[in-house]
Amino acid sequence: MTQDEKKKAVAMAAVSYVTPDSIIGVGTGSTVNHFIDALASMKNDIQGAVSSSDASTARLRALGIEVFDLNSVSELDIYVDGADEITEHKQMIKGGGAALTREKIVAAVAKQFICIIDDTKQVPVLGKFPLPVEVIPMARSYVAREIVKLGGDPVYRQNVVTDNGNVILDVHNLTILEPSDLERKLNNIVGVVTNGLFAMRGADVVLVGTDNGVETVK
Ligand code: A5P
Repeated sequence: MTQDEKKKAVAMAAVSYVTPDSIIGVGTGSTVNHFIDALASMKNDIQGAVSSSDASTARLRALGIEVFDLNSVSELDIYVDGADEITEHKQMIKGGGAALTREKIVAAVAKQFICIIDDTKQVPVLGKFPLPVEVIPMARSYVAREIVKLGGDPVYRQNVVTDNGNVILDVHNLTILEPSDLERKLNNIVGVVTNGLFAMRGADVVLVGTDNGVETVK
């Protein structure tokens, strides 16, 4: 199976978590794009979606799925999203597509985070994938210096502006042995909007695309 076939398989599997007449939290990325396409086939059975990025919103709307403002929604049963890295404890690095802030917000509201990945995303320790940190533009240099003090090598992601008008620092050379601790420390740096560690609130269910089919980790 190719990586894209595995992504498609987990996206199809995630459809079974969709409850009728509900509003679905929808993430961002190439795996989620397959999920959005699958959701389109049942658009008459759901109310619609809350989206984590302008890109996902555009794809949802193009397929005729209504997109709600999160402020008009009091609860979400599920949030479906991919990840860049994930451990056996269901802690993740996300934000490779620069949508981490809205992803974390929608995930916080949802009762269940359904993470859909191919098996290349599974790692024993987080940090090989550079950790994205969304930063208020005027704080970029200050935040970078603070991240160096924490042991990381921040690299400004050139030519990327997030949906919130901010910039991204990708932090290289981290071996993240205590993800919740680092998530908290990064959140505490003035000027950081969000970091891509989803450790304090990880996934609840992980659907893994493998050569042998879709495996479910609960
Ligand atoms: C978007 O900002 C990310 O958090 C994505 O969820 C993550 O990068 C996974 O993307 P793919 O599904 O494209 O691998």
